[in-house]
Amino acid sequence: MALLEAIGIGKTYPGGVVANDGVNLVIEPGEVHAVVGENGAGKSTLMKILFGIEQPNAGRLVLDGKDVSFAGPRAAIDAGIGMVFQHFSLVPSFAVYENVVMGSEPRQGIRFDRKRAIAEVQALSDKFRLKVDPLPPVSSLPVGQQQRVEILKALYRNARILILDEPTAVLAPQEVQELFVAIRSLVAQGKTVIFIAHKLPEVLEISDRITVMRQGKTVGQVKSSEVTEKSLAALMVGREVTLRVDRKPTDQSKRVAEVRGLRVVNARGTEVVAGLDLNVHAGEIVGLVGVEGNGQAETLEAIAGLKPIAAGDITLSGEAINGLPVLDRRGRGLASIPEDRISEGLATGATVAENLVSTKLTDRRFVRSGLLDLKAIRDNATKLIAEHSIRVGGPGYTVGTLSGGNMQKVVVARELSEQPKLLLVNQPTRGVDLGATQFIWRTITDARDKGAAVLLSSADLSELLALSDRLLVLYRGRLVAAFLNTPDLTPETLGTYMLGLSTQTAEDMKPALR
Ligand SMILES: Nc1ncnc2c1ncn2[C@@H]1O[C@H](COP(=O)(O)OP(=O)(O)OP(=O)(O)O)[C@@H](O)[C@H]1O
Ligand SMILES: [Mg+2]
Repeated sequence: MALLEAIGIGKTYPGGVVANDGVNLVIEPGEVHAVVGENGAGKSTLMKILFGIEQPNAGRLVLDGKDVSFAGPRAAIDAGIGMVFQHFSLVPSFAVYENVVMGSEPRQGIRFDRKRAIAEVQALSDKFRLKVDPLPPVSSLPVGQQQRVEILKALYRNARILILDEPTAVLAPQEVQELFVAIRSLVAQGKTVIFIAHKLPEVLEISDRITVMRQGKTVGQVKSSEVTEKSLAALMVGREVTLRVDRKPTDQSKRVAEVRGLRVVNARGTEVVAGLDLNVHAGEIVGLVGVEGNGQAETLEAIAGLKPIAAGDITLSGEAINGLPVLDRRGRGLASIPEDRISEGLATGATVAENLVSTKLTDRRFVRSGLLDLKAIRDNATKLIAEHSIRVGGPGYTVGTLSGGNMQKVVVARELSEQPKLLLVNQPTRGVDLGATQFIWRTITDARDKGAAVLLSSADLSELLALSDRLLVLYRGRLVAAFLNTPDLTPETLGTYMLGLSTQTAEDMKPALR
């Protein structure tokens, strides 16, 4: 008997978007069941229905062979379902164990039994190989551990079925492996996991079976052992997708950006960029390689003007831009796709059309004598929505109602809609589907081919290797290796430098530093 079944689920959001349309999902006990599909296919909506956050307009849920309905998450939790979201709901200043037991504290008489709480959290962490220490405050933990605290929270409330909606999108590759260790241990001990992700190698590695969604419908269920990346991609997208780009030969003689002696100190007073020199030329993509948290993001933010710098010089086309506000840097031809697009790049309460011009309010095509040209703004949006396959009812829809991946596409579309002189890109395809990844890779490469200087950071080594002309490896805020992107360069080689296991000499680096 199936553990959990969704039968003929329909969900139409207010405003008329049909997010689920006759969805069927069958979850067997003790399996890792992946749900895949393009951005906006309806995956998160289905999960919210399973967890009682959204109510379906049609269909039924069957748990242990009995019809169930969840008026809210409380009811789903009571039925043994847990869910971990991308944005965690932890109290940063509280210890791990306090976060885990909050609301269900063990008591001795009327007193909070702190000792027992700590012991129970430790035992759960050990049992499921989550490797989380109960004592430190959550704020001191890396993202991967915070996520596993969320998993502990669900387990502490006796979840039998754990829903993970794009858990790997926020993780560095090492953390993905730690999560997978935990997931394997969970299923080995009888738990069931529903797992959403866009990266197919991850999906094939961790799942037993896969349900494919397309435009609000389930189009198939397959065994992971019986599909390949290629056949699964074809099933998802309805056509073949090859993730490859050709980089044309370009003139790379002109230096567009120069960074000298850059130092960045974070809010906690730690030096995260420790004296960095780099150049980016017209017509080249320079990849910043590193385990997350080794200064790549801060370097990009410093150049974009989003973070203050402690020391150093940044020049764009030969002029110092250190002291300039973000908008002036943009005026000089800088475009930037930040890592946290939703909080840094979008006004979620504004419309898609407004967001697509929000950095262009000095552009005479859209604003003249202080008046917005609404028709031009709308036409611009219609064009970009089509080009980037942004799944939305129209330019007038609020960005906050878009699926996660479609929100990302709005920022990417805006930043790539003009030919920039210098393009700063952080995690361009995190959370976006295969078809969109292919499109974004092409668009970045096109900007390069047309003479843009591009500085790219990504946690995905295959992305860096596919796009970059040169690769610079950062470790603890310092440059430790530099490579020309030749066919013999492998992720393994990069890995040894990323982990600080070895460092090139100045002589080794020379050929790739220009
Ligand atoms: N609160 C909402 N109000 C209106 N429409 C919504 C809302 N949430 C989602 N939608 C719409 O429902 C559709 C399905 O969205 P959903 O978030 O389920 O997609 P998804 O498969 O999770 O996509 P992604 O891979 O981008 O996360 C999309 O068209 C989206 O714009
Ligand atoms: Mg989603």
